[in-house]
Amino acid sequence: MPQAVYPGSFDPITRGHLDLIDRGIAIFNRIIVAVLSNPKKSPLFTHQERVEMIRDETSRWGDRIIVESFDGLLVEYMKTKKANVVLRGLRAVSDFEYELEMALTNRQLADEIETVFLTPSVEYVYLRASTVKTVARGGGDISPFVTPSIEKRVLQRYAELKSGKTI
Ligand code: PNS
Repeated sequence: MPQAVYPGSFDPITRGHLDLIDRGIAIFNRIIVAVLSNPKKSPLFTHQERVEMIRDETSRWGDRIIVESFDGLLVEYMKTKKANVVLRGLRAVSDFEYELEMALTNRQLADEIETVFLTPSVEYVYLRASTVKTVARGGGDISPFVTPSIEKRVLQRYAELKSGKTI
């Protein structure tokens, strides 16, 4: 299969996202990781920071992984990339309604675009980027959820916020 677009907020990228990329790259020649610039909730990291972090974490795959940010409708971004497969992770039943709604909305907007769901490794089925932030904010250990370099950046960001720095 030529290429897929893996969209998300990635605030920040977790071990679950990396696991999904790992599985996706076994199926697709190229994955474009598309980082939503302005997610509804105000993100912990700017879109440039999120793109940079994902690039660092995925550099081992070379040019088979492309990381970009996008704004507006996903299907419009996909048309500019000439891509017609959306890759998403489906963790638990709780994800299903949200994912089905997105997949069907995207299909309504652009019938040629298909969504492919992959299931992450069992140790990541409960993992969400928001959980990482909640645990970090409360002073808990996030090392099972993110790589050491992401852990460092998350802890640094909370230390900056604590000291009153605006992002
Ligand atoms: O990681 P997330 O936050 O669950 O990812 C959600 C994302 C970025 C895939 C979704 O919000 C999205 O595609 N946003 C772009 C706007 C869009 O195209 N909406 C139509 C589908 S509902």
